[in-house]
Amino acid sequence: MHGYEIRKSLFSITKRLTTRRSVLPKWHRTMASQLPVKFDIKTSYKLNSDYSIPVLGYGVYQTPADVCEEVTLHAFKAGYRHVDSARAYRNERPCADAMAKSGLKREDIFFTSKVPPKAMGYDNTKNAIESSFAETGLSYIDLYLIHSPYGGKEARLGSWKALVEAQKAGKIRSIGVSNYGVHHLDELEDYIKSSKDGSHIDVGQWEIHPWLPRDDIVEWSQKRNIAIEAYCPIVRGERANEEILKTLGKKHGKTWAQILLRWSLQKGYVPLPKSVTPPRIDQNADIYDFELDAGDMKSLHFPDSYAPCAWDPTTSHD
Ligand SMILES: NC(=O)c1ccc[n+]([C@@H]2O[C@H](COP(=O)([O-])OP(=O)(O)OC[C@H]3O[C@@H](n4cnc5c(N)ncnc54)[C@H](OP(=O)(O)O)[C@@H]3O)[C@@H](O)[C@H]2O)c1
Repeated sequence: MHGYEIRKSLFSITKRLTTRRSVLPKWHRTMASQLPVKFDIKTSYKLNSDYSIPVLGYGVYQTPADVCEEVTLHAFKAGYRHVDSARAYRNERPCADAMAKSGLKREDIFFTSKVPPKAMGYDNTKNAIESSFAETGLSYIDLYLIHSPYGGKEARLGSWKALVEAQKAGKIRSIGVSNYGVHHLDELEDYIKSSKDGSHIDVGQWEIHPWLPRDDIVEWSQKRNIAIEAYCPIVRGERANEEILKTLGKKHGKTWAQILLRWSLQKGYVPLPKSVTPPRIDQNADIYDFELDAGDMKSLHFPDSYAPCAWDPTTSHD
């Protein structure tokens, strides 16, 4: 049996044993134990913060501010309830405008921003968070991530401290990191364990797809129930002509992009596809009417591959 199927049967057994709760109790919750038997666009995972994250996110990196409101509104109509922005993307405001105009309740939308790489350190991060609130007018932000680990240990831990304070103040619901290597994660965990109230890591975001599986980071995170967000989940279109994607696309009657997004879901990740093209936005959310079987998943298993299509700060040492 493939890992996904083993988890599926384990999940259904555990679910039957644990009354009728849709989510396992915190004391034995891991990301693997949260994999649903069947995904749909409303599937979410419970974070360490006890808030939930919708499994399909809508990425807005390189989405120009002047089209961002319109395309984000389209994404909401297509069913997305999770928007991944950042201070550095310069489009937090149009995302928030789309949220306000969507007619959806605030609590039904999950909005993420990130500490810009240039704003590392305690004071800079506090200012970055304040700027996000000033720009968006939101009363709270669902998730704030440290965008990258650059800047040295003191700056990294200072940024984390500022995130924890904002979380305690109720401004930010969940906190996490992006582009952290295992050595950065160990450093943060040591700090959290040694400080009185270092909170916990709720989410990690990395470039992850079959050609960049990052098994070490995935294992570290899943053990700690840290939700793994997969950025560049469709490899920016660079693998569209891979034979295996053509084969699987034909087999399931789906596009190469849908095959990659489905792979991400079945691995237990939170994929964040970006598109400014309405039919593609729709297509990327139409991934719930088929399933990759164990053989399909195996044919997309390249454990030794290391082929980023974006930057890779996980390897930095400063
Ligand atoms: N934390 C980080 O450091 C970091 C880094 C990179 C990305 N991210 C996040 O992850 C999100 C996604 O990553 P990404 O934008 O770099 O890459 P991606 O989602 O893998 O690919 C986006 C590209 O693929 C095209 N595309 C989208 N859907 C398609 C489809 N169904 N068929 C064909 N082409 C399609 C888009 O074109 P059109 O837009 O023209 O349709 C765009 O050029 C970002 O928006 C951002 O939120 C985070």
